[in-house]
Amino acid sequence: MDYLVMLPGPTNVPNRVMNAMLTHIINHRSDDFRDLYKAIVEKTQRVFQTHNDIVLLTTSGTGAVEASVINIIRKDDKVIIPVNGEFGTRLADLIDSWGGHAIRVKAPFGQNPPYSEIEEAFDQNKDIKAIYAVYNETSTGTTLRYLDKLSQLCSESGAFFIVDAVSILGGDELPVDKWNVDICVTASQKALAAPPGVSPISISPRAKKHMQANPPPTQYLNLKRYFKYYEENFETPFTPALPLFHAFSEALDLVLEEGLNKRILRHKACADAFYEGLNAMGLSPFAKQDARSNVVIAVNYMPGMDDKRFRGLLSQQFRVLVAGGFGELKGKVFRIGSMGEVNKYHVMRTLSSVAYSMNILGLNVSPDAASIALKRMENVM
Ligand SMILES: Cc1ncc(COP(=O)(O)O)c(C=O)c1O
Repeated sequence: MDYLVMLPGPTNVPNRVMNAMLTHIINHRSDDFRDLYKAIVEKTQRVFQTHNDIVLLTTSGTGAVEASVINIIRKDDKVIIPVNGEFGTRLADLIDSWGGHAIRVKAPFGQNPPYSEIEEAFDQNKDIKAIYAVYNETSTGTTLRYLDKLSQLCSESGAFFIVDAVSILGGDELPVDKWNVDICVTASQKALAAPPGVSPISISPRAKKHMQANPPPTQYLNLKRYFKYYEENFETPFTPALPLFHAFSEALDLVLEEGLNKRILRHKACADAFYEGLNAMGLSPFAKQDARSNVVIAVNYMPGMDDKRFRGLLSQQFRVLVAGGFGELKGKVFRIGSMGEVNKYHVMRTLSSVAYSMNILGLNVSPDAASIALKRMENVM
């Protein structure tokens, strides 16, 4: 029996998308590839809600996040970045390691820094080069709900607005043009429900101009090369992962066929159902109420729930995969990816498997608790 992949990436990939990889290898310097690439770029623009340039990297999300740093940051550039989890910490460290100066506006994990603290940091540092933000902090299950305000600060000061949307794009609101996001980064294997290995980035005209004038001393993640190859020939500078490009194209078709708004509502309904069902089992979310994500549900373990045993039971007895915590949350939480293709059946099967696993561990939970979640998903297939 196949696993039900409820990880915060990679997620379940529909057969239609997997099957798209079974096409013949084509020449990546041919019209066959150019047609494929142009089509992917146009569909990605629709999903990102942008007219900006799109670069498609053959990397996991980290490669694209790194590209957003090495193509923008130069020695002593100041950057403001909210930090409330592992991915924000990593991004801030990366900015520093590239010679920049990350001004970290921190909050305890599970909470967002109040917007007023970002404003304060901004008032004291109007000469920043950029604001970076991890939209959905996958390690803690929190989502920053003031990206539009960060964008306004950037507009005021001329700073770039750069968003790591790796674990959320396609599962929650992110109108790139409306929110003036200069660089938006995501990855194929999360809310877009494709296999891992492709990472799209959108880049505004002014960010592009800056990158073209200040290319990094590297080859693979030097985005200037990608602009040149696309503009001259609709190609990528290096060999693309062709089967993954076919799969990604199909995954984008699925997103557009469903419609972005409907997809976002489906994610919200499934997340609400998870929060409610888990609560009925006596389990509490790690994230504070106003910061809770609609794509990653981080759940506190209660006494008697050993991480290894619990997730082992879920995987071996019920074929359901969820993630553990990492960094300082290792052993303290488990994380459910409620993203991509997530539907009523996924939620119900996950919740009842959680309840039965807890029973096996000696905790008295009624599997009926899962059915509480049902009413939240009336409009979800
Ligand atoms: C917010 C965020 N940024 C970056 C990454 C890194 O992506 P990848 O593991 O695809 O390299 C992840 C992965 O989970 C993530 O959730």
